[in-house]
Amino acid sequence: MLEIRVIVRTVHILAAAAWIGGNILYLVAVIPALRSGGPAPGVGAQIAAHFRHLVNICVGVLLLTGAYLAFDRLTSTSLGWPYLLVLGLKIIVALAMFVLAIYIGQSNIRRLAKRTTRLSKAAPQLVLALGMVVFLLSALLTGLFEASIAPN
Ligand code: HEM
Repeated sequence: MLEIRVIVRTVHILAAAAWIGGNILYLVAVIPALRSGGPAPGVGAQIAAHFRHLVNICVGVLLLTGAYLAFDRLTSTSLGWPYLLVLGLKIIVALAMFVLAIYIGQSNIRRLAKRTTRLSKAAPQLVLALGMVVFLLSALLTGLFEASIAPN
């Protein structure tokens, strides 16, 4: 049956896939294409602006749906400390990603002020790496949850 938790979970996973998948596309295809295709005035900035908009939506959706999923899981059965530990870790890494996304979003201002740092250059790769860690932790969470409801 199409329960609310199935819909919220689908939206959560879609937002995660759009953000991390978009990041991969950006780093693997868009940036190399813009670099090798010579100067295409304004195109890079436009792609960046559209992608930033998508990331903002994904972050908002992930926060809302993530809070719902966490509440739903924690109130549906008694989960052991491994689940709580992995969830806590996931939330910390996810929050670091959200902060980095805001930081990347302000990169135009920094570039104009000529204040590019090593962190601002590495931030997109860092978001991708942390995103992969979050996917792994999420898969672990699902495994732990299924183990907790499986009949002995
Ligand atoms: C504070 C933010 C977040 C919270 C509270 C949260 C919470 C959760 C919870 C409780 C689940 C269900 C786990 C289970 O089956 O027991 C889940 C699933 C999932 N989350 Fe998040 N999440 C957050 C952010 C993110 C982010 C940033 C990503 C990736 C970019 C992400 C990717 C996923 C994926 C892929 C699943 C499905 C895992 C699977 O079924 O294998 N989440 N999340």
